[in-house]
Amino acid sequence: MNPHVSTSWSVIRILVPVMGMAVGGMAGESATAPAMVADAPAFTLPALPYAQDALAPYISARTMGFHYAKHHQAYVDNLNKLIAGTPWAAGPSLETVVLESAGKPDHAAVFNNAAQAWNHAFFWKCMKPAGGGRPAGRMLNLIEKSFGGFDEFKTAFLATAVAQFGSGWVWLVQDGHTLKLVKTANADTPLAHGQTPLLTCDVWEHAYYLDYQNRRQEFVQAFLDHLANWEFAAAQLR
Ligand SMILES: [Fe+2]
Repeated sequence: MNPHVSTSWSVIRILVPVMGMAVGGMAGESATAPAMVADAPAFTLPALPYAQDALAPYISARTMGFHYAKHHQAYVDNLNKLIAGTPWAAGPSLETVVLESAGKPDHAAVFNNAAQAWNHAFFWKCMKPAGGGRPAGRMLNLIEKSFGGFDEFKTAFLATAVAQFGSGWVWLVQDGHTLKLVKTANADTPLAHGQTPLLTCDVWEHAYYLDYQNRRQEFVQAFLDHLANWEFAAAQLR
């Protein structure tokens, strides 16, 4: 399992300590928890790595207000309700919940909410203010080897994003010794398919409709040109 992501979630899973503390507060608030509280939620909304208006004008503060504070929060809240009283509420990482519920029809709701909680936490880290541009070093070498060049990679990333019918995600993944582009529908995630996610862009309409209406390709182009966090993606390489 990716150690970077696992470490982040281990912090997130430290339970909020007192009644009334806002779920989704800064990571430091959760880290000060003095003791376990019986009724505390198993999972809490991770803090964004930047302010909600930091990605404007490419993603507006209004979009982030809905996407992060409403949609992502809802996945976390729904997951907590679904796993209450089960072993999943008492210790495993979010990745474990995703992997153990994947492909099991009787746990589809748990998988959908756990995977969406994981996908969104990963997606926020895949962006940064003044991001985009070209990666460097090993990441650039692997992209050139796998796709024939960085421009070819960008063209393929856009095409994959546009080709996803309905809600879903476009991912750059590491699969063995090569990099691949994959698209997943709804909550599905490369984690459940043995692939290592490196970079993702959310292509659910809630990710872009307020800013771009139906122009998904324009949103994904802005992601590649101005937001992609290649340092984070490179840190996921095995
Ligand atoms: Fe989303």
